Amino acid sequence: MFDQLPAHADDPILGLFEAYKADPRPHKVNLGIGIYCDEQGRVPVLDSVRAARALLAEADAPSVYAPTEGAQPYRDAVRRLVFGEVATAPLVVVQTVAGTGALKTGADLLKDLSPEATVWMPDPTWANHAAIFEGAGLRVDHYPYYDSKTGGFDLDGAIATLGKLPAGDIVLLHPCCHNPTGVDPSHDEWRALFDTIAQRGLLPFFDMAYQGFAQGVDEDAWAVRECVRRGIACLVASSFSKIFSLYGERVGALAVHAPGADAARLLGRLKLGIRRSYSCPPGQGAALVQAILTYRALESQWRAELEAMRLRMRAMRTALHRALHRALGPGSDYLVAQHGMFSYTGLAPARIDALRERFGVYLVGSGRLCVAGLNASNIERVSAALAAVRA
Ligand code: LMR
Repeated sequence: MFDQLPAHADDPILGLFEAYKADPRPHKVNLGIGIYCDEQGRVPVLDSVRAARALLAEADAPSVYAPTEGAQPYRDAVRRLVFGEVATAPLVVVQTVAGTGALKTGADLLKDLSPEATVWMPDPTWANHAAIFEGAGLRVDHYPYYDSKTGGFDLDGAIATLGKLPAGDIVLLHPCCHNPTGVDPSHDEWRALFDTIAQRGLLPFFDMAYQGFAQGVDEDAWAVRECVRRGIACLVASSFSKIFSLYGERVGALAVHAPGADAARLLGRLKLGIRRSYSCPPGQGAALVQAILTYRALESQWRAELEAMRLRMRAMRTALHRALHRALGPGSDYLVAQHGMFSYTGLAPARIDALRERFGVYLVGSGRLCVAGLNASNIERVSAALAAVRA
């Protein structure tokens, strides 16, 4: 009977990661999945996380069910981290199973709220976005985002589409480090987007998985905070996988900015969605993030570690840009103009296949390159491989 199920191809990112792990070549390079690796090519254990783990070990607390919405101190800490100077706005924050869980919890809420709404996502966007919203029963469509001619943001195209939408439609936005292109709007471009969003009565849904990887923790939350400052209702999904290097713990949050709404009723609907999905969130990762964000010394240590990750990624962008410039001449300025973990190489799928098959260099099929997988010992090899497939 289960043979009736339609076949499902492997996820383009997770499937590639499995293929990378199974590749026996010692010099293989993983520039596919968005995982930050240090200069030694390892996923780091942050010292701030280590210190928080020691605190938790000392406390030796039993493993109990967390409240459906997460512990209050965790929710307060996330509110401060994400919203900073606008944290006193009318917000409801719940803990979620990482960023994906936040998107799914938000999608379920939106399906309850406005089942006929369409979710408009940037073209391109993270491979899993459409699946999450379609899976929640919402219609999905795309607005222009990446301009392949300039390698930048297509503001005019975005406004032309968003400016025609009916009130209540949802707009998915990446507040920083756009995945997969690394192309972020400027403040002026954000202002123009928010003008259109406010005029049309649209509902922004921010997916913030890299707060601190572009310009800094507070700088990267600028668009979210500007939206709140303007009194526009919105949702924000936060993931702490990358910025705390806690991929396995699945820790994140969903915040809803709901001016004028009954906060208790909204929280109740969110709790209903969580309860009928996974009942209550996992404890360990949230306890670590809570400890870091509530002990001042740990928070400073974490901010410094996050800044070091950010700067290493910038340095890798510059180094790859230089190496490609030497090998191929001009044409790779996109590397230094884009932000965060990802860059869009514009390489056609056949060249991406050649990179993997001939050189063991793994990029996502869309042409996305994860700069966080570069380091001093693989950068020459990667640039030589990129030059070879471009030639
Ligand atoms: C990515 O885009 O590579 C990450 O967000 C990992 C994932 O789950 O796809």
